[in-house]
Amino acid sequence: MNPDVYNGIWGGNNCRDSPVQTDRVCSCSDECEAGTKYVEQFQEELDYNIGKNNIAAFWAESIQGVGGTVQYPKNYIKRVHDIVKKQGGLFVSDEVQTGFGRTGDHFWGFEMHGIVPDIVTMAKGIGNGFPLAAVATTPEVAQSLTKATHFNTFGGNPVSCTVGITVLDIIKEEKLQENSKEIGTYLLLELGKLKSQLPIIGDVRGKGLMIGVELVSDNESRKPLNPQTFLKFWEYCLDQGLIIGKGGLYGNVLRIKPPMCITKEDADFTVKVIESAARHVC
Ligand SMILES: Cc1ncc(COP(=O)(O)O)c(C=O)c1O
Repeated sequence: MNPDVYNGIWGGNNCRDSPVQTDRVCSCSDECEAGTKYVEQFQEELDYNIGKNNIAAFWAESIQGVGGTVQYPKNYIKRVHDIVKKQGGLFVSDEVQTGFGRTGDHFWGFEMHGIVPDIVTMAKGIGNGFPLAAVATTPEVAQSLTKATHFNTFGGNPVSCTVGITVLDIIKEEKLQENSKEIGTYLLLELGKLKSQLPIIGDVRGKGLMIGVELVSDNESRKPLNPQTFLKFWEYCLDQGLIIGKGGLYGNVLRIKPPMCITKEDADFTVKVIESAARHVC
């Protein structure tokens, strides 16, 4: 079950590591109850389907990207990681969207979950537009690749590697991780204010410059905004000069993952256009 604390059957207003929470009611004290329920559900899934057999691997983004910027309840990933490891599995972190400082507090998204994965996959931000990807893993897993022929025409390409190294230098020199945290938090809080004014915005979530805004047709039932109205909203933003991604199971989540060098003025412009789009389509 997707541990989505906004849309899922369990969730409250203190579940996620974000400056903006859901409007759902929550009475948790120490441990996030929604998180515990989703972990129990994961364990039950394994018990029924795998039994005592080994798991090959568990694969997750540190915050779901195209899935609609879904953040896991606190401690969920750590607890699932421990279950997977206990049952012989490898834990794979897909850092294609969450890596390279985008989430602000950490360079890698998995750090926010307090785990060290066995395999980390990287792309997109690693090359800042240049086609580049990488996989990091343990010596043990890497060794397994020597058992059969594994070949990449462009693997280790020196031009790509130079781009990758330069991107790392620039992230550090221009303090882009810090900028992601500062501008991302500001943008999240401003979007959070919009949520309380505009019923079309059901949820605002994320961390740093990995932001999701879920559009709904009814705030109470959290019913997704219908695709035609979403498209109108989206096209309106585009016409105003704001390009946003789209995601979520029902394609009703604005995925805001801008370049990590954006400014406060860019954030203000984003909020202004989203507000205007909401008023325009409603
Ligand atoms: C989270 C995530 N993982 C993996 C991929 C695939 O990356 P690539 O196209 O570089 O193989 C994408 C691409 O959209 C992605 O968003």
